[in-house]
Amino acid sequence: MSKLNQINTKGIILAGGSGTRLYPISKVYSKQLTLIYDKPLIYYPLSILMLGGIREILIISNKETVPLYQKLFEDGSQIGISIEYRVQDAPNGIAEAFIIGEDFIGNDSVCLVLGDNIFYGNLKFFYNALQQNSGATVFGYQVNDPERYGIVEFGVSNNVISIEEKPEKPKSQYAVPGLYIFDNRVADFAKNLTPSGRGELEITDVIAKYLELGELRCEKIGRGVAWLDTGTPEALLQASNFFGVIEDRQGLKVACIEEIALHKGFINIHDLKNMLDKIPNSLYRNYLNGLLREFREQNLGVIK
Ligand code: DAU
Repeated sequence: MSKLNQINTKGIILAGGSGTRLYPISKVYSKQLTLIYDKPLIYYPLSILMLGGIREILIISNKETVPLYQKLFEDGSQIGISIEYRVQDAPNGIAEAFIIGEDFIGNDSVCLVLGDNIFYGNLKFFYNALQQNSGATVFGYQVNDPERYGIVEFGVSNNVISIEEKPEKPKSQYAVPGLYIFDNRVADFAKNLTPSGRGELEITDVIAKYLELGELRCEKIGRGVAWLDTGTPEALLQASNFFGVIEDRQGLKVACIEEIALHKGFINIHDLKNMLDKIPNSLYRNYLNGLLREFREQNLGVIK
């Protein structure tokens, strides 16, 4: 399948965890399947990987939820990508994703996105970072509640001095969002970690390893990009309202994976037409139908 990738980077979406802050729904349902306006939350991080040109993707979740993702996305071929699935037995930490995904990563670089992280706006910061193929690239995003995140401290020349997970006394306002790019040594580094005080293999410890080696880049994301949190009921509502406003205003959908697949040339209009025949009558289908018409009129169909 490696011929699928336009770049030598694979994608992992980590979409498990306990989601207990969303109790009682978390008793029966995965947070990453909750609706953000008109589509499941996981569509948003998936669309980021696709926009980056990443076509080989691994979704990791708990054993109850993996079958639901499989039902939702199948093997990904309908949108011109390949999706594999693996189970994480318990929420042992974000860095465990690289151990679970070691054979999937193989000799490639990997971009990990957390299944509850949403980015919206100009993604140039991400596209540029995907051009690097050694070391690690993470991002810094200014927040007003830094104690809730992994936090980077910058030196005078914007070099990273330190990284800390949920510090009580944050050394900066720059949080590290759940979008990371690593070279393929990451699985070995993850295997050598010891669990933190809260019993998890911490992503910040992996990042700290690259910092120690002098191979960490941290790019600041400007304020024109929205990085939305979805950890609480309030944050979910805010994210839904945010995308509801944008979609209503523009008449364009955000994170519509079929549309992205078409624009990126992963599928052509014939593939979209075939797919439409299987989608029930819905607003989502109407939107895709409109897209098909538009592509036909403008003769933009990309032939595979
Ligand atoms: O959102 C960005 C932040 O994500 C970073 O700034 C932090 O450095 C990073 O540790 C992480 O912090 P969170 O407190 O948001 O991590 P949380 O435990 O909530 O996990 C994030 C997502 O990953 C969540 O959707 C559940 C999933 N997850 C988490 C763990 C620990 C798993 O699927 N498996 C796990 O073992």
